[in-house]
Amino acid sequence: MSTHIIGVGGYLPEHIMTNDDLAQIVDTSDTWIRERTGITQRHIIDKDEYTSDLATRAAAQALEDAGLSIDDMDAIVVATTTPDMIFPSTASMVQHKLGGKGFPAWDIQAVCSGFVYGLAQVDGMMKGGMFKRVLLIGAESMSRILDWQDRNTCVLFGDGAGAVVLEFNDDEGGVVGSVLHCDGSYRDLLLAKHAHPGASPHHTRAKQDRLNMNTDAAGVAAVEMKGNEVFRFAVTKLGEVVKEVLEKYDVAQSDVDWLVPHQANIRILNATAKKLGLTADQVALTVAQHANTSAASVPLALNDIYRAGKVKKGQLLLLEAFAGGFAWGANLVRWSK
Ligand code: COA
Repeated sequence: MSTHIIGVGGYLPEHIMTNDDLAQIVDTSDTWIRERTGITQRHIIDKDEYTSDLATRAAAQALEDAGLSIDDMDAIVVATTTPDMIFPSTASMVQHKLGGKGFPAWDIQAVCSGFVYGLAQVDGMMKGGMFKRVLLIGAESMSRILDWQDRNTCVLFGDGAGAVVLEFNDDEGGVVGSVLHCDGSYRDLLLAKHAHPGASPHHTRAKQDRLNMNTDAAGVAAVEMKGNEVFRFAVTKLGEVVKEVLEKYDVAQSDVDWLVPHQANIRILNATAKKLGLTADQVALTVAQHANTSAASVPLALNDIYRAGKVKKGQLLLLEAFAGGFAWGANLVRWSK
């Protein structure tokens, strides 16, 4: 018996902000952003949308893909750094919006590593006999916690949601296993300081313009980052963690068919792909269109290659992510759909 991904979904808000749009706001250029990050555009959540709305849409698509309804689920887990409110959990709102009731729903917070952490957590719970079917979602509205005056950070992020339906069954393949890490001593290199009012439009609506950019006046948390140092640490730790997960589960590097990386910067994910000896067409790549959607980025990248019909049954996928904390990790999944 193992944990299988039996449904995949994704959702991106309609509004697209290009690099040229950003250059109207801060001192930057399309060339700089493209060359340093690989990003060309990002999707930005609408004024009246919440993280739970993005999550609900991605989850609905994943349920449809699995041919199941919300009543078939035993739990909902949402990985998010930008919940609608401090409480109740975004997962509880997604449950309600999907018409579910009674079964457990909770959020997890590991920033950009949230989905990788979530997959490890749910896999462990399924192996322990807790659940047969779980909706696991990564959803973010990062645009609401950015300082839109800070070119070092505001060019890097976007909004969106990705979701999977997980089922514990005796089919071949499924989740092979995971490796997770955290080192809280790096707190000051990547953080959003205030303990909310947060991502909620409840607090900021009056001050927002069309693109939800005016978050500072409401005392909302803003992402701060020492990009260079984060970059170096991410490249090193991701290189280590992908080797570690392969060694732990006795899998040869050459057996990996797909790298499904966190989409922070094309240079970071190319460095990891190179260490694994993978070619460009073995890497799920969405950073150009989505930018860094934090916890949503890995499931959105998975959704992208899945919907393009590129992932084949029996192939081995290596998912990895690096996040504020620092928190990082990797999962190995033998595709069984
Ligand atoms: N437009 C134009 N110039 C910019 C800019 C922007 N948006 N952002 C920064 N710069 C400038 C800097 O001010 C600096 O100028 P200076 O040399 O005059 O001081 C210069 O570009 C170089 O900055 P540097 O930080 O050395 O660039 P870099 O090559 O490290 O790229 C990042 C910057 C942020 C793209 C890169 O460090 C990065 O991707 N870091 C990791 C980010 C990440 O993964 N975060 C999330 C983890 S989950």
